[in-house]
Amino acid sequence: MADVLVDARRVTRDFRSAGDIFRRPQTIRALDRVDLTVARGETVAVVGESGSGKSTLGRILLRLLDPTDGTVNFDGVDVFALKREPLRQLRRRMQIVFQDPYGSLNPRMRVGDAVGEPLEIHRLAAGADLERRVRDLFAEVGLDPSYVGRFPHELSGGQRQRVGIARALAVAPDFVVLDEPVSALDVSVQAQVLNLLADLRDRRSLTYLFIAHDLAVVKHLANRVVVLYLGQVMEQGPVAPLYDAPLHPYTSALLDAVPTPDPDATREQTTLRGDIASYAGVGCVFAPRCMHQKKDDRCFSERPALRPFAEQRMAACHYADDPAKE
Ligand SMILES: Nc1ncnc2c1ncn2[C@@H]1O[C@H](COP(=O)(O)OP(=O)(O)OP(=O)(O)O)[C@@H](O)[C@H]1O
Ligand code: SF4
Ligand SMILES: [Mg+2]
Repeated sequence: MADVLVDARRVTRDFRSAGDIFRRPQTIRALDRVDLTVARGETVAVVGESGSGKSTLGRILLRLLDPTDGTVNFDGVDVFALKREPLRQLRRRMQIVFQDPYGSLNPRMRVGDAVGEPLEIHRLAAGADLERRVRDLFAEVGLDPSYVGRFPHELSGGQRQRVGIARALAVAPDFVVLDEPVSALDVSVQAQVLNLLADLRDRRSLTYLFIAHDLAVVKHLANRVVVLYLGQVMEQGPVAPLYDAPLHPYTSALLDAVPTPDPDATREQTTLRGDIASYAGVGCVFAPRCMHQKKDDRCFSERPALRPFAEQRMAACHYADDPAKE
């Protein structure tokens, strides 16, 4: 692949859950041997239901969390091998925007100070220069620079998210993990923030990992999509063929969950039933919920490998057919 910026291999992460009077402590595998590459300038979406491991993956890429196993390279450098000073320099190049800007902003800090703080921490600006750069960042994300003296609670949800974006961009990163950046916003505001993210990407040549729980949100922003289920990649591929003809039953079900503007749409409904739940068997992790007509004993006895299909797609299903071959 052309000019890989992020290259994660076989990333695995276990969490030990605390026991209680009903349950013994157990190990949850939040990520299971996930491979992920993001090319420079690309936007890769990571999509899956709550608990599929999206945030865990994003945090590991930024070294905010250690993997149990696997490697992460950023611009050719092993992220987990870095010592203090090179790590500090690398941190500047990788930033994150969280779902809930209210939770991620200090309620007692003026939003101008919140945006300026990373510039101070990385010793990139001070004094009048710092003030000017903060005002420029406000203008760039569509906020009135006179808002610098306000507190988070004095802003709307969309404005707070713009502050979160300005804070992430302050240190001029190359790579930004957007962890459900519009999920907490009203639908009308979501589109504005998505447009802003697209503009900023183009203007600043940013590379994004865009985490979302539904496929509709990422359709216009992403180049490629990775679909996660219980910590495993079910399908990945470029946006157009993945939305037109999903290979994996889980991707189909996620697409069916997207409301369509056409009431007469004739797509076969394969609505997801139940919730994501741990799977202790040896077969396909999606088997307990899969509605594929060919589902059989093999699905419960053999884990499907993630295998390649035409158009640089991959899917982990024994019965995925390649639409390009039909
Ligand atoms: N610190 C932790 N301790 C124990 N378990 C954790 C921890 N962080 C995550 N998990 C578990 O790992 C799994 C994946 O969690 P993660 O937060 O990555 O999912 P997600 O896809 O981001 O979900 P959401 O859409 O709700 O944000 C879940 O089962 C979660 O309970
Ligand atoms: S391998 Fe079987 S259970 Fe898994 S997605 Fe494919 S058909 Fe469904
Ligand atoms: Mg999450």
